[in-house]
Amino acid sequence: MARSAERTLILLVDAARPEAEAIEAAARLVRAGRLVAFPTETVYGLGASALDAGGVAAVFRAKGRPPRNPLIVHVEGAAAARRVTANWPESAGRLAERFWPGPLTLVLPRGSAVPDAVTGGGDTVAVRAPSHPVARALLAAAQLPIAAPSANRSQRLSPTRAEHVARDLFGRVALILDAGPCPGGMESTVIDLTTVPPRILRPGPILARDLGEEVGAVEGPPAFAARRGAPLKGPGMLRRHYAPRTRLDCAPTGEAAAHAAEQAARGLRVALLTIGASPAIGDVRRVQMPSDAVRYAARLYDVLHALDEEGLDRIVAELPPDEDAWAAVRDRLARASSAR
Ligand code: TXA
Ligand code: MG
Repeated sequence: MARSAERTLILLVDAARPEAEAIEAAARLVRAGRLVAFPTETVYGLGASALDAGGVAAVFRAKGRPPRNPLIVHVEGAAAARRVTANWPESAGRLAERFWPGPLTLVLPRGSAVPDAVTGGGDTVAVRAPSHPVARALLAAAQLPIAAPSANRSQRLSPTRAEHVARDLFGRVALILDAGPCPGGMESTVIDLTTVPPRILRPGPILARDLGEEVGAVEGPPAFAARRGAPLKGPGMLRRHYAPRTRLDCAPTGEAAAHAAEQAARGLRVALLTIGASPAIGDVRRVQMPSDAVRYAARLYDVLHALDEEGLDRIVAELPPDEDAWAAVRDRLARASSAR
């Protein structure tokens, strides 16, 4: 559907102590049902008042997001979360107490104040209290819960810098608050507390073992098969999401360099993401990623955005170890490499 272009304003704000005027301007827009992109500690979000069905509909239009894929409602803390949920189990209280504000999203029974548009018509709602000072200041000034998916067009990579947001959404959003790069660089962990045992729907910065310490056994996340050389079987099981435009292949550490070299020998322009140092290989462009999972996560989208801009033919990524600490990175690499 055609839509009139929005005039997009970009305001630079201090990440630690955001300027009050910029935050007030953003809060006024949110209260008026308009769209504001803002930084969180994970990735940039595309926000609208979670209580305004029209504003929420505009989020789906701006992203080109399928209407049944629900949004996360951002709140200041547990008290505000209780106002958008129908039920606040003890498990929610414990997790919020330990991990909020921070990169953890809780799926709970939906409160009656939340419009259908936010939940995709479903009877649960996802809530999270972000820790980034800009997000917190915006929530405090707006005095509203803010529905915000990642601020990218549907199916594209999540934005970790305001430039990434502008590239995808300029002309589709009223304001972008630019506070520089997001420190975490990868989306929040999503845990469903409406099932027994609770289930991790999306691995992220808060690890399964830490969640388990608060709520007992947790299930999931579902395993994704990663693309190696050949297309994968059972594409119905794969969800291409969080993906660069450049085709990405994953390979175990011992095989990645050879796979990259093979592609380069066929005349393709190839980048190889290694974990830690690796020897040079002919024409392959090597990108050395951190060998620490948290630092790797903070770099990954930034690197993929940059490689996409170069217009390479192929990115080959070494698969990190199958360990809890690496679950989020493995999940995103596997999704990015899914058959398309
Ligand atoms: O770190 C983050 O979570 C970022 C920042 C902006 O907060 N947000 C984010 O939003 O990643 P989005 O929309 O890109 O991803 C939200 C994920 C989707 O996979 C969505 O399907 C899931 O959360 N989700 C949202 N509401 C849900 C619900 N009620 N039940 C199950 N999954 C839900
Ligand atoms: Mg997203």
